[in-house]
Amino acid sequence: MLGAAVDDAQADPLTGLATRDQLMARLDALLPGGPSQAARPGLILVDLDRFRAMSDGLGPLVCDKLLARVGSRLQAIVPMATLLARVSGDGFGVLLDDGSDAVATAGRLLDFLGRPYSVKGHPITISARLGIAVADGHGDDANSIFHAANLALHHAQRSGGNRLQLFNMSMRQSAERRQALENDFRAAIALQRVELLRALNSEQFKVYYQPLLSLADNRLTGFEALLRWHHPERGLVSPDEFIPLAEEFGLISLIGEWVLRTACREAATWPVPKSGVPLKLAINVSPLQLRQGETLLAAIRVALAETGLSVDRLEIELTEIALADDVGDTLHAIRALGVKLVLDDFGTGYSSLSRLHKYPFSRLKIDRSFVAGNTPATDAVARRSSEGMVRAIAALGAGLGLDTVIEGVETPRQREIARLAGCTEMQGFLVSPPVLGAALPALIARLDFVPDRSANTPDADLYTLAYFSRSATPLRRNSLAAIDDILHISRTNNGKLGITGALLFGEGYFAQVLEGPLPAVEIIFEKIGLDTRHRDITILYNRPLLRRDFSGWSMACVGAIDIHRLPDDIHGVVDDGACCETALTGQQILEFMQALIRKYDGDAQLAPAG
Ligand SMILES: Cc1cc2nc3c(=O)[nH]c(=O)nc-3n(C[C@H](O)[C@H](O)[C@H](O)COP(=O)(O)O)c2cc1C
Repeated sequence: MLGAAVDDAQADPLTGLATRDQLMARLDALLPGGPSQAARPGLILVDLDRFRAMSDGLGPLVCDKLLARVGSRLQAIVPMATLLARVSGDGFGVLLDDGSDAVATAGRLLDFLGRPYSVKGHPITISARLGIAVADGHGDDANSIFHAANLALHHAQRSGGNRLQLFNMSMRQSAERRQALENDFRAAIALQRVELLRALNSEQFKVYYQPLLSLADNRLTGFEALLRWHHPERGLVSPDEFIPLAEEFGLISLIGEWVLRTACREAATWPVPKSGVPLKLAINVSPLQLRQGETLLAAIRVALAETGLSVDRLEIELTEIALADDVGDTLHAIRALGVKLVLDDFGTGYSSLSRLHKYPFSRLKIDRSFVAGNTPATDAVARRSSEGMVRAIAALGAGLGLDTVIEGVETPRQREIARLAGCTEMQGFLVSPPVLGAALPALIARLDFVPDRSANTPDADLYTLAYFSRSATPLRRNSLAAIDDILHISRTNNGKLGITGALLFGEGYFAQVLEGPLPAVEIIFEKIGLDTRHRDITILYNRPLLRRDFSGWSMACVGAIDIHRLPDDIHGVVDDGACCETALTGQQILEFMQALIRKYDGDAQLAPAG
């Protein structure tokens, strides 16, 4: 039953499958030089998700039975000559003589294992993660193949989305790097401990602060505290790498407390900005810190009491992954202290709308990946879909009464998209990279100004663009109702972005002037350019502007145009191409466009601008 080279008498008693030792011996035999040499043997390691929790809930008898069922289900699916083994409590190994189909086989296993079981009257559904490694014929030994499949399995377990993972070399490199970091981490943390005991700042761990700005009025609203490890040789090590280590070594609360105290102490000294609204401080906590709820709550209380930071200025940020555990009580207890809760990296992990509803969050942070996809270099479809995601999350936040912060904003264009999407705050290199506490006074002074709610950006960056186009469908002449929808959306969007301008239509033509900050004009013009209600868009001019001609109009509608009543001298304006280069008044622009409409009327050959 277990394959030629395996002795049934020594099989795993629970499942009747081979043991791990038997699997390794068989794998050895299949490798070059071994007695049963195969071309490229493959190994699939299967691990059942959350089996321990299930065993606590269902009891060991049911779970043993379930394991036996999983074993027989595996047997039913895999090819005949395959060796199956139970390699750990809830782990299985599938050894394929020919690994070339390993991924397809793994896909089938995943599908079948996930179908419901009925064990002793309990309906049970399980899910599994699979790691796959195939011998590459370059001197692998059984141990290295097993290790490779195991690395791939860990990868599948960590990645959240991918349930099966084929081994690749980068996994080995990152495992080696992790091992090296682990060693260094022990050394660094030993130093840190001493430093902590002396209540001094650490040499290697430092807290940085990155500002948050309100998108409505560019007001500085607060800072997120970010922990960094300055490694003497490796340089800056990201928290994504060292926080899991800190968790593993049981040092996360120690570090967490230090960050809380350091950042709260710093924030207590920040000046009240000119807006009069005190600056808030957001601090990240790891999933493990949240699971150790009492310790975290105590650390927050101590940090607030010791530093005198007002409780309503403190925010705790957690990622969606932390919500996979049962941390509801801790979250409610933190909120009950008066500290606000922020859900970080929203949209990338285990986003669950019911959780959003259930827990007392004040803000959502939209993951940087959604805005990173929005650069002029990405294609229009990708841009629209990332914009759509940002907009959907902002709307979700607004619907639930939550603020939405967009992270990773690096360009004015991304900022304007976030503003247009309805996000309330932004954070990113466009405003400032994270800075050390010592640099904060200068940064606060630079960012703190009296908010001007009437205009989104100073008029220094003004730009104007004018175009005309043909309507795709006949518009009812002289009827404003024909463009009601366009005017409505224009006024809403343009108002948010500080764009002013005028829209004209008549005789099957549109003409429009847009004025505002360059990135905002570009974003709106891009939307207009994709609109199928018109075509043959021809840009008339596109240049910096000193003063708005239509100030106060998020989109003025210049009404229906009766081309038969255009003054004769307009022809002169149109024919004089130099007019495009000089600054025009609103009236001149209007006349200029009317003249152009008149000039091109009936010219069906007009090519759209590139
Ligand atoms: C002639 C014409 C002019 C337009 N002008 C504007 C404008 O100034 N601002 C704007 O936001 N949308 C304008 N639109 C509408 C956009 O093409 C697009 O439908 C709208 O911006 C989509 O908004 P949404 O992404 O918020 O749904 C115009 C459309 C046409 C056909």
